[in-house]
Amino acid sequence: MNLFEKFFGEVAEKPKEELKRPPAQELPPFAPYSPTKENKKEEKPEKKTHPLSTPEEKKLEVGEKTGSFELQGTVNKVFFVKFEDGAEGIFKPKNGEAFTGTSVEKGTYFKRERAAYLVDRFIGFGLIPPTVIREIEGQIGSVQEFVPDAKTAAETLEHEKQAVASEMFKVWILDYLIFNTDRHGYNWLIRNQKIHAIDNGMSFGVRPGSEDEPFDHYFAHFNAPFPQEMKDMFEKFLSWEQGKEILRDLLLELLNKKETDAFFRRVEIVNEFLAQGKIPYAARNGLTFGS
Ligand SMILES: Nc1ncnc2c1ncn2[C@@H]1O[C@H](COP(=O)(O)OP(=O)(O)OP(=O)(O)O)[C@@H](O)[C@H]1O
Ligand SMILES: [Mg+2]
Repeated sequence: MNLFEKFFGEVAEKPKEELKRPPAQELPPFAPYSPTKENKKEEKPEKKTHPLSTPEEKKLEVGEKTGSFELQGTVNKVFFVKFEDGAEGIFKPKNGEAFTGTSVEKGTYFKRERAAYLVDRFIGFGLIPPTVIREIEGQIGSVQEFVPDAKTAAETLEHEKQAVASEMFKVWILDYLIFNTDRHGYNWLIRNQKIHAIDNGMSFGVRPGSEDEPFDHYFAHFNAPFPQEMKDMFEKFLSWEQGKEILRDLLLELLNKKETDAFFRRVEIVNEFLAQGKIPYAARNGLTFGS
């Protein structure tokens, strides 16, 4: 029995109203994909459109590619892809991943893109565009929904960034949880006062080092009170036992056990800070990315 069947095989046969949905927590999408040979053999075409997948994810998972072009000037190979129903995505094939010299092994970035998205969905921050794993023309990789008409943070004026300050706090917490060491100004987009956190492949690493320090824009959040909305979301996630269990199993398909356990330890650390109402400045040294 694979993970998908374990959690949703039974649920899928029950009428909708019988679903035991966790209170006030939006069920995250569970998009079947085939990261292992074993899953690939078992996978039947109808599973690709399970009712719990969001429409956005389904489109990215099963849509036939109608056109694509490669973006220029990127470190990894990055393609803009258009699908038959008009959906647009950013495809980052495993084979196009470049060696970066960090603790994150080349050939695993695409899985981390998906893992980061799952964490964001389960917590409910809604910062990372839907991200799935699929094959396109024989190449496995991540496909992330394209955010049109957005500016990168690097191209955004300071006052526009001020308007998303409380969203930025969420990005800080998310990046700490996923240990993302790469949130520079081209890896977060702003559109209509909303942040879209893209390029999450350099996440869940374990190596300590000065290059893994948080970016300057995070320091503003030390000693600042947690925004209430963020506190509420995180607390809901913490009390959602079933969700945490499912998330652990899903992460274990994408990351190793050490990385998965480290993520859940960081969840506990954030929980402690929530209880204190803010991140104490003294915690700065213990909160560096990568350690
Ligand atoms: N989901 C998205 N929506 C819109 N634009 C995106 C999205 N994902 C990536 N891009 C655009 O493509 C660029 C390159 O993508 P990305 O940052 O993921 O590639 P990378 O090669 O891993 O990054 P880098 O070159 O910064 O190391 C981004 O800076 C952004 O402009
Ligand atoms: Mg980038």
